[in-house]
Formats: sequence, C-alpha cells, structure tokens
Amino acid sequence: SVFSAGASSAAIPTYACQRRTTLNNHNKVLTDALKILAENAEYYESVGRYLAFTRVSSILKSLPYAVTSVDSLRGFPGLGEHCRKVIEEILEDGVCQEVESVTQSQRYQTLTLFTSIFGVGVKTAEKWYKEQHQTLADLRASQIRFTKEQQVGLQYYEDLTTPVTRAEADMIRKTVEEAVYRYLPGAVITLAGGFRRGKETGHDVDFLITHPEEGKEKGLVTKVIQHMASQVGLRHSDTTHHQAIMSCSSVVRALASQKCRKQETSKFDHFERCFTIVKLNQELGAGGQGAGHRPEDKHWKAVRVDLVIVPISQFAYALLGWTGSQVSKMLCNFPHLHSQNEYFSAAAEEEIFAHLELDYIAPWERNA
Ligand code: CTP
Ligand code: MN
Ligand code: MN
Ligand code: MN
Repeated sequence: SVFSAGASSAAIPTYACQRRTTLNNHNKVLTDALKILAENAEYYESVGRYLAFTRVSSILKSLPYAVTSVDSLRGFPGLGEHCRKVIEEILEDGVCQEVESVTQSQRYQTLTLFTSIFGVGVKTAEKWYKEQHQTLADLRASQIRFTKEQQVGLQYYEDLTTPVTRAEADMIRKTVEEAVYRYLPGAVITLAGGFRRGKETGHDVDFLITHPEEGKEKGLVTKVIQHMASQVGLRHSDTTHHQAIMSCSSVVRALASQKCRKQETSKFDHFERCFTIVKLNQELGAGGQGAGHRPEDKHWKAVRVDLVIVPISQFAYALLGWTGSQVSKMLCNFPHLHSQNEYFSAAAEEEIFAHLELDYIAPWERNA
C-alpha cells in the first residue's frame, strides 16, 4: 500500500476533500491532543495556528495506520515544527506538556464550557470569561442580557449537550416527514450532516428538503415549522430564511458569486432554513435511555434540528455542503471553481467532483 508507515508524503493528497477519511481514526490520541491546541488557538483568535493544528489533525485522521514514529511524518503536507514536537512528545511520553497545561487552564475550561452553549460563540464566551464568569450557574445568576438562542441554550443545556442517537434522528425524521408531506406530498427529505457520513451520534440532526419540480418548495419552511410547533412543541424557531450567512457550503457560495455577476441576486446561499429545537417524546421509543437524570415529569428531550429547503437545481451542492465535514468540504479553494464563468448544473455530488477533476469521495470517507 502507498500508505504503509514511512511511505513518502507524496502519497497523501494535499486537499482534505481528496483524502478518504473514514470514522476509523487510527491516531485518535494524537488528533485529540491537536484538537485541544486548535480550540485553544481559536480562543486566542489565532487563525493561523488554528488552521495549522486542524490541518495536521485532519491528515492524521486519514491515515490507515497508527503513527508510531515522528520520522515517518517527514515531509507531511503542512507539518510544522510545533505540531511535530507535540506528536513526538506524545509518542515518547504518552502526554504532551503543552496540551496538559492548556486543559488545566481556567481560560480553556471556561471558554470550552461557554462555547458549548447553543448560541454562544468564542467572542461572547471570552467576554463573559473576562467578566469573571466561570460556570453555568454564574451565567444564570448574572445580569447578562442573553439572546433568545442563549436563553434556550442555557435552559436545555443538558439535553442539548447529550449526543443525539440515530434512533432519535429516525424519530425526528418521522415528525419532519409528517409536516412536510402535509404541504408538499412529493417532497424528498434527505438526512445530511454527520449521520450521512456514518456517525452513530451527532450534536444535531440535519435535513435537506427538496421537490423534483423546481419552485414547489418555496415557502415550505414556514409552514413546516408552524405545523411542527403545533404538533410536537417547537421550543425555539429562528425562521430567518433569506438571512443565511452560512446556510450552504462554500462550494455553493463560490459558484453563486460567479453567477451573481450575470444574474440579479444569488439564490444559492439563501436557502430557506431553520435552526431549531424540537421536543422529542422519549416514551415513543427511545427506550428512556439517557432520561435518568431528568425530572420525573419530563418525558421529552430537546434536540437541535436543522431544516434546509433547497430548489432541486441546487440540491447536489447543498447536499455536498450540508454533509460536511467542515474540513472535508473544503472544495472551494479550487481554482477550477473560481474560474468558472457559468453556473455548472450538477444533478448529483459525483458530477461536482468530476467537474472539479477530483476523485469522487463517498460521504463516509468525508470525516476529515
Ligand atoms: N453547515 C453550513 N451552514 C450552516 C451550518 C452548517 O453549511 N449554517 C454545514 C457545516 O459546515 C457542515 C454541515 O453543514 O459541513 C453539518 O453541520 P453540523 O450539523 O454543524 O455538523 P455535523 O458534521 O453534522 O456534526 P454533528 O454530527 O455533530 O451534528
Ligand atoms: Mn484501517
Ligand atoms: Mn449535524
Ligand atoms: Mn447542523
């Protein structure tokens, strides 16, 4: 195999979107450590260091063997001195001193806790940390004026940080189907995100909804949300269609900006979407699993659900973008794409890869 330990780095594709990265991570000890350093860099808004740690981590995830010697990493794309030293320390001592001190630092612990709250990003977390807040209790007792998202994030913190299982995703799918088919019987609902990449759990459930006849899907998100709210109790709905900033993949955005020059407005990054929280009834089949610490009278779990309504003509792009992973989908940096003057219509993900002259990478190989 070209990947045998010590193989030349030439065997490793430079682009993450071309590395077949399954969930079988042979270098978890190393990637967990690098993830901590990447997070910490993010907390210091050091984008360069964040990317450096993330890139090396993503390459390690793609290797079909466990790295045992730092020498075998010579010439790996993007491997700098810092990462090399971290890996070497872990291979030799089992731990890296820098990683240990980061995980023990108050700043890292507090920012990790605060950014785990729905609706809280690094900037906000840092602000609260500087105001001397350290725990969720501190926040709850504070005078902070939370956004609507943050209020919900704090209220359902335990539920929302408990991984969503595939069984739960299936149950939510039924709820979504019922609401969607009511208004648009011919609609097609696709599970995207981590579950499509083969993950057994996720932090949320992502659905793409389309219809074979272009235009039929218009206005669907509002109706679906209203129906679901009346049926299952939707705790929070941010039905900000047309406000999407990150609503679709960078691929789609790159294409959109090209098409924009010719056409009036970009419709690509303006999918109707809703980032929401659904009450999942736990008596309906989740087997009460994970409900142990909840109050006796609470028989439901708050689950994050993302609904994205996509016109069929852009479905392949949206699917690629919403399947992730964040790292795997970095197709956007390809010059081929930016030099396109016209919107390339793709009926399937395979066509997008082919158009970019890339090997097709299946969803379960996109776990970079
Ligand atoms: N995404 C996006 N625009 C958003 C939110 C997410 O394009 N506004 C993309 C992400 O970049 C990712 C995919 O949609 O590629 C799924 O996002 P997310 O649910 O955050 O991550 P998952 O990979 O599904 O991880 P998890 O299983 O933990 O939910
Ligand atoms: Mn293997
Ligand atoms: Mn997801
Ligand atoms: Mn999501």
